[in-house]
Amino acid sequence: MRVGFYQFRPIFGRVHLNRKKVVKKLSTVEADLLVLPELSFTGYHFQDRAEIFPLAEDPAGSPTIDALAEVCSRKDFFIVTGFAEKQGEHLYNSAALIGPNGLTHVYRKIQLFFREKDIFQPGNISLQVHEIKGVRIGMMICFDWIFPEISRILALQGADIICHPSNLVLSYCQSAMLTRCLENSVFAITANRFGTESRPHGNLRFTGKSQIVSPKGALLYRARSQRQELVIMEIDPAQARNKKMTEKNDLIADRRPDMYSELCKAQKTSGQNI
Ligand code: ACM
Repeated sequence: MRVGFYQFRPIFGRVHLNRKKVVKKLSTVEADLLVLPELSFTGYHFQDRAEIFPLAEDPAGSPTIDALAEVCSRKDFFIVTGFAEKQGEHLYNSAALIGPNGLTHVYRKIQLFFREKDIFQPGNISLQVHEIKGVRIGMMICFDWIFPEISRILALQGADIICHPSNLVLSYCQSAMLTRCLENSVFAITANRFGTESRPHGNLRFTGKSQIVSPKGALLYRARSQRQELVIMEIDPAQARNKKMTEKNDLIADRRPDMYSELCKAQKTSGQNI
C-alpha cells in the first residue's frame, strides 16, 4: 500500500486558498492513502470561537470535503484530513476520511489542547476503525497522542494504520509515537504542519517533522522541521496484524483488563485518587 503525508503551511484564515493549494498538489500524486495536517484549511491559532466560526464547515455542505472527494474519485485514493467542523452552533476540531465515493467518516478530536478548549466542543463520537482497500484505518488528532488509551482502543478495534493529522507545537510527540506504534503494533502516519502563526494574542511555531512509523516502532521516514514535503512510501499493512513480541507474548491477548479497572473510573483531578 502506498501511503504518505503532505506537510505544508496553511495560510491563516484563507480556506479557499489553502484548499486550492492542497487540491493542486494532491492531483499530482499516485497513492492509496494520504494524510494532511489538523485544521488544514483554516489555520490554527484562533483568538476565539467568533473568529473561526465563519470559516468552519458542515460536512453535509462543505466545499472543502466536496473538492477533496472529487480528487479522491479522480485519483482513486483516500485522504484523512483535519478540518474545522460546524454543526449548528457547535464547533469541532475534526478529521475526515474521504475516498472515491465521498466522505466515509468524521472523527472529532477527543482530547482538546490548551486554547482549543475555549473554541471547540470535545469529541462526542466513539472511536472507530474503517476498512479501505482491505486495510483498517483509525483516526486521532494531534494531542490525542499523549493519551495512550486512544491509540490502544484503535488497535483493539483492529486498526492497521493510525492516521494522525496534527498541528504540533510541543517537542514530544514525534518520539512518543514510536512507542504508541510499538506497544500496539500499528503503523502511524503523523501529518504535521510547519510555519509560525503570529497573532495579537501570541505566536505559535509548528514543529513539522511529519513521520511514518512501523509496528515495531521504527521511524520509516521523518520530514524536516520547516519545509514543505509530500512523501509517499510503500508499506505492508499486514505487518500490523502480528501482535507477537515473543513466542509466548501477544500485545493484545496478554492484556489484563481485570487488573485495569482504574482506567475506567472518572477522576476529577489527576493523581489524587486517595
Ligand atoms: C495540538 O493538539 N494541536 C497540539
